[in-house]
Amino acid sequence: MRKWIVAIAVLAALASAGAWNLSGVYAQEAAAPAAAPAFPGPVMETERFMKKFADPLMENLKALLAQEPATPRDWRKVEDEAGSGAEVAVLVGIRVGEHESKPEWQEMTKVMYDASVALAASAAKKDYADTKAKYEALVQSCNACHQKIDPDTLPVIEP
Ligand code: HEC
Repeated sequence: MRKWIVAIAVLAALASAGAWNLSGVYAQEAAAPAAAPAFPGPVMETERFMKKFADPLMENLKALLAQEPATPRDWRKVEDEAGSGAEVAVLVGIRVGEHESKPEWQEMTKVMYDASVALAASAAKKDYADTKAKYEALVQSCNACHQKIDPDTLPVIEP
């Protein structure tokens, strides 16, 4: 009886010392995790970022501007969405990668930023015709970058 207790105690000691630490072996075999993002910096790949932030932005604007906004609240929504466009442009500007580190990237990001700010200003004036024109200019700023980076694979955004 006593021998068993000693044997169990020895096994427990070995286990806690890592003698049979199989989880450690598996951890080494698993793919190394991606380096943790540095704050403040980008977290997502550009592709997923575009899908998550840039695409819904245009969908929202398209819906909001399908007809003339009827109330001050509707105009405010357009203005806020345009403001989001400028904020998203700032986040486009901090992406990292082969294309993202070229000087043209910053230039094209700035065009998107300026187009968003102009759209917000136009919405603040509640000028529907001008707001539509500024919205189309924002769409063009998306496409200008896509055309420059890779016209064969990057999407053409329809206004
Ligand atoms: C400064 C350059 C730049 C600007 C500005 C830009 N994009 Fe992109 N976009 C990219 C790049 C680069 C990719 C491809 C990323 C990849 O596949 O690695 C991309 C990919 C996309 C995709 C495809 C994502 C997928 O699922 O494959 C969509 C949708 C998109 N962009 C929408 C937009 C919209 C809408 C705007 C404007 C509001 C915009 N982009 C502005 C560079 C840009």
